[in-house]
Amino acid sequence: MEALRERLQRAQRIVVICGAGISTSAGIPDFRSASGLFEKYGPEVFSLSTFTREPNSFYRFYREFRAGTYAPTPTHRFLKRLQEQGKLMRVYTQNIDGLELSVGLDPGLVVQVHGHMRTANCAQCRRWEIPIAEFDTRLDREGTVRCPRCHGARGAYLKPSIVFYGEGLPTRFRQCLENDLNIKGFGGEGRPKKAYREGPFADLMLVLGTSLQVAPIKYVPEVFPGPRVYINAEPNAIFTRYADLWIPGKCDDVVGSL
Ligand code: OAD
Repeated sequence: MEALRERLQRAQRIVVICGAGISTSAGIPDFRSASGLFEKYGPEVFSLSTFTREPNSFYRFYREFRAGTYAPTPTHRFLKRLQEQGKLMRVYTQNIDGLELSVGLDPGLVVQVHGHMRTANCAQCRRWEIPIAEFDTRLDREGTVRCPRCHGARGAYLKPSIVFYGEGLPTRFRQCLENDLNIKGFGGEGRPKKAYREGPFADLMLVLGTSLQVAPIKYVPEVFPGPRVYINAEPNAIFTRYADLWIPGKCDDVVGSL
């Protein structure tokens, strides 16, 4: 904890990468733990090809997710405190619960790498987009929501604007990485190329509550040339290999009182 405090004190521009582990205490299961969403619904529920063939398993997940009410956790409030201290450069979140915005982070400081649930769009044409409240009403009324623009084409179902397996990430993800980490270009699987340290770029990376299994975000800590701190219930090979700071435990317990 002392080592973490020291790094936070010294840092001026902090980049945070976070995942489902920062929201489990809000009552949202993570993906890969024994009682996670993959165990309950299967990973294919979040795949584009499955959805366009058979949207109902995703709709089942979505209805259950939507029925919950979720409030920001002590870890989200820690991010807010970093913002208030003027030290937060960016939060790259893989989460689609929107709790980073609910807690009051400036939307310009948040990159929702795997999309969001404010709107819904067509899995085929991508161009038909409606507010999520309208999607919800239609889902309740019609059971499955079809795109009116695609005229009954196969797989033309609407889904919340989250990124499924098989879909590209928002362009803002790369733009912000270039800006924050001085990354010059991207390789296969969207893997960022070497980042250079000189200049007004991030000087600390916090990686919170993610198994770092999903490309391309899993590659980002690897190329970051500054100090990295990983706070997660389980270890991760990257942090073991590079001997950066890994603090095992629950995010709320570690950062909640900082
Ligand atoms: P995972 O479920 O893969 O990883 C969550 C990690 O958080 C695990 O290592 C848990 O042990 C840890 N964890 C759980 N609760 C914690 C807590 N309170 N404090 C600290 N650690 C905790 O979830 P993500 O890494 O977020 O993508 O998954 C990344 C992506 O995989 C998701 O965004 C999703 C999925 O495919 C899409 O849907 C596109």
